[in-house]
Amino acid sequence: MKLLVGLGAVAVPLVSARIVAPRGPSVSYDGYRVYRVDTHADVATVESQIRNLRLVNFSPGTIDHLDLAVSPEDISAFDALGLDAAVVHEDLGKDILSEGPLRPYLRTTESADLPGLEWFDNYHPYEDHLQFLEDLHLAFPDNSELVTAGASYEGRPIQGIHFWGENGKGGRPAVYWHGTVHAREWITTMTVEYLLYQLISGYLDGTEDVKAIVDAYDFYILPVVNPDGFIHTQTTDRMWRKNRQPRDAERCTGTDVNRNWPHFWNVTGGASDSPCAETFRGLSPGDTPEMQSLVAFTDAVAAANEGGIKLYIDWHSYGHLILLSYGGDCDARVENYERQMELARGTAAVVETVDGSKYTAGPVCDVLYAASGGSMDYVYDVAGAELSWGYELSPADAAGGGFVLPADQILPTVVENWEGMRWLLSTM
Ligand SMILES: *[C@@H]1O[C@H](CO)[C@@H](O)[C@H](O)[C@H]1NC(C)=O
Ligand SMILES: [Zn+2]
Repeated sequence: MKLLVGLGAVAVPLVSARIVAPRGPSVSYDGYRVYRVDTHADVATVESQIRNLRLVNFSPGTIDHLDLAVSPEDISAFDALGLDAAVVHEDLGKDILSEGPLRPYLRTTESADLPGLEWFDNYHPYEDHLQFLEDLHLAFPDNSELVTAGASYEGRPIQGIHFWGENGKGGRPAVYWHGTVHAREWITTMTVEYLLYQLISGYLDGTEDVKAIVDAYDFYILPVVNPDGFIHTQTTDRMWRKNRQPRDAERCTGTDVNRNWPHFWNVTGGASDSPCAETFRGLSPGDTPEMQSLVAFTDAVAAANEGGIKLYIDWHSYGHLILLSYGGDCDARVENYERQMELARGTAAVVETVDGSKYTAGPVCDVLYAASGGSMDYVYDVAGAELSWGYELSPADAAGGGFVLPADQILPTVVENWEGMRWLLSTM
């Protein structure tokens, strides 16, 4: 059973029946060559040199380097620019094949049991993610409910799950996670689902530390906050990042939902005001349907729980980074900086013990670049979270596949980050 749950005074909009599934011809990335370009700190010059080339920029907003996938027709023109560029992958199309086919979800167990862990061997169609979420709820029926944070531009529910331990619903501070705001970052969906799976299965098994964690918090987990974009990556363009909202009189589609939060929105250099750009911030603060849904839901989560939001994480890929605020004000430091850094570094240290992945922790502005209108600044400053992070998962770099992580890398990625989260949730 699906429940539409209103939190506090906020009415959660009912999802409209207007489900649109545009199916254009699939974009082919066969023969696209992936480069890592050293910009020598002059990204503006490099961007103007490559402006007319057919390519995908994997790292919009970075300063010191750009990861670019260049179309086969433009490889010679790109090489002729003489940039400080190294080829890291010969053929993005081949990499996409290495992700394997989207595997339909086959339940092998009784409906009251948890789904099997083989879910994490493959990527899956969007509808199956909804079924997976519902099945987790059915396996933990008295301690969980399905929640809907409003609707996307194309009218899809932004679906999540809320669960709690022995203190009952709404009785403890919130742990609040978002996955897949950037549509092409597929590993984030799988990671958020694995963490959720481990929390619920550990609770059901009576695993002591996991039971203590679930008893201590109310969890609100939204594995796919940009469903329209995510579906577009599955049907049409694997490299799509933004939502799917056209803008009047513009030939480009999509707003970067993670530059559209109504806080530090109009900051020079933190986002783009061009509708064609990967980091297009929208026409005014919070003007995407996704953002209106997420802001209302976030504020409701902050208000509904005793103790507000303890931990927020916006899951992204790639780069092996644990990021804290601020992204919208590079001169400011969060008030509890030492505490947040200690926990972020501690999480990174635990992740490294599993398989050697080295995560770097720090404020967005220091580690990456200015990023305005981002979730973590809003959730820290406005929603009052104690810890508010952005988390860049595997791979470490474009050489590891960028957004395209082979299916056999899903399990190692989710397992190491489960250990990190298990430590964090027990320690914070
Ligand atoms: C952004 O800020 C600048 C400088 O304060 C201002 O001129 C401009 O109108 C603002 N833009 C929007 C869309 O609010
Ligand atoms: Zn991202």
